[in-house]
Amino acid sequence: MHGGWLWLDSPAKINLFLEVLSRRPDGYHELVTEMACISLADRLAFRLTAGGAAIHGHIMGDSGPAAGTGEAGLPDWENNLVFRALDLLRREAGIAAGMDVRLEKKIPLQAGLGGGSSNAATALIAGNRLWNLGWPRERLILLAARLGSDVPFFLAGGRAICRGRGERVEPLPPRLGLPVVVATPPEGLSTPGVFAELSHSREGDIRKLPDQCDVGDGGSWPNLFNRLEQPAAKLSVWPRRLRQAFAAVGCPAHQLTGSGSAWFGLFPSRRQAARAARLIAARMPELRLDLCQTTRGPGIPGNGEIATG
Ligand code: C5P
Repeated sequence: MHGGWLWLDSPAKINLFLEVLSRRPDGYHELVTEMACISLADRLAFRLTAGGAAIHGHIMGDSGPAAGTGEAGLPDWENNLVFRALDLLRREAGIAAGMDVRLEKKIPLQAGLGGGSSNAATALIAGNRLWNLGWPRERLILLAARLGSDVPFFLAGGRAICRGRGERVEPLPPRLGLPVVVATPPEGLSTPGVFAELSHSREGDIRKLPDQCDVGDGGSWPNLFNRLEQPAAKLSVWPRRLRQAFAAVGCPAHQLTGSGSAWFGLFPSRRQAARAARLIAARMPELRLDLCQTTRGPGIPGNGEIATG
């Protein structure tokens, strides 16, 4: 293992259900959300440094219009959640260890797909393994919650209901392989910006609980719901346009993911998903379209390999 790169997939997520219960004194919002990992993924590679305690990063990729592409220099890298996750882990573990990291970005930024949070969870898993810490997942989850509200979900992976600010994770049996089309518009949305547009008139009113979100089984399709769609639509024309576009191709279940700006649709078959993606792309060439499927969580080696060199 020494000298070799450990390559791990870092998948995006979609929110099948998202209700905001209240605004908290700390500025966060109390929510109930059901999330699922999808195969649209970044790839991360980790390697122990030969000596020294630096955590070096190299970011490559195509994450759409808001991407930080090219070589990652300081101080950008030190603000990246991958660096922050590894730095926090080694400080908490009381070790002065280094790491080389390569990050291949595919997940669009400011899209509600959780790319940064997933990268942070992947980094915790990699640091725990390569630094031989042997921490149980529950201990990593406590660190994850300090890095971001969605990071604990990605440590659990698959599918889960998340409460609190998102950090209280209740895993659900994963529903793997369900075809998903993700449409990302050219403009991203800021999460704090979207939350700030919420009207709080429905505080404490859980419209419905997500327990019935059993996607696509036996021909039944969930009534997806996302409380953040309306506030997102105040800031961007895209939620309305995308709702119309997915309805026009007959998608059985579709909505905004997280605070946007990406929109996803669920389909009974990959063939139907591919056809819908083609039709939407033809009508709206400015969109980025990804055809993917529901999957497991981060920390699973891409293509199963551990490359050397
Ligand atoms: O936890 P995270 O850093 O990902 O949150 C980013 C921002 O999203 C927060 O600063 C807050 O404005 C908003 N947020 C929120 N309620 C949540 C999660 C995030 O208001 N439950």
